[in-house]
Amino acid sequence: MNKINELEKLKQMYINCTSCPLAKLGRTQVVFGCGNPNAKLMLIGEAPGKNEDIQGEPFVGRAGKLLAQILESCGINRKDIYITNIAKCRPPHNRTPLPEESKACKTLILEKQIEIIQPKIICTLGSCATQAILGRPVQITKERGQTIKTNLGLILPTLHPAYILRNKTKYKLLAEDIESAIKFSKS
Ligand code: URA
Repeated sequence: MNKINELEKLKQMYINCTSCPLAKLGRTQVVFGCGNPNAKLMLIGEAPGKNEDIQGEPFVGRAGKLLAQILESCGINRKDIYITNIAKCRPPHNRTPLPEESKACKTLILEKQIEIIQPKIICTLGSCATQAILGRPVQITKERGQTIKTNLGLILPTLHPAYILRNKTKYKLLAEDIESAIKFSKS
């Protein structure tokens, strides 16, 4: 089976997922992920927000527009890479996913997505995604920009685009990290 079919099969398995509390906390749909199943670069965010929950695609709101702008400035379209979140369902009031929610989603879906796609490098966007992958607390401003080997492959933690919307002076740091990840993915 090719990667497109494998991902589709996984998506269908969890389209009505009820494995964690988020299933009953007002989600519109499971936001699985999107982009190129053969991508060498994967981006992992935190969880869908309001727009993502409605449209069924990660990073389509303001943070997503910022991300797309950075990718475009590096000569990459978001369709060329694979984008997903740690939690596939929108948490109420956009709160951070609870550890049990992240853990369920990581084990059941995310680890399998990574196994299928086999990206050369994964950019974790923000502390929630980075902590969920590393399984330990992270101070993202200290750990961003450096690659870390994990059992799920090489990750490059960086700042979350929503943080950049609130702290515009940090734009360059996110742009630099995304550029490094793109370069590595092409090497
Ligand atoms: N923030 C995230 O972490 N993921 C999205 O999909 C949108 C905003």
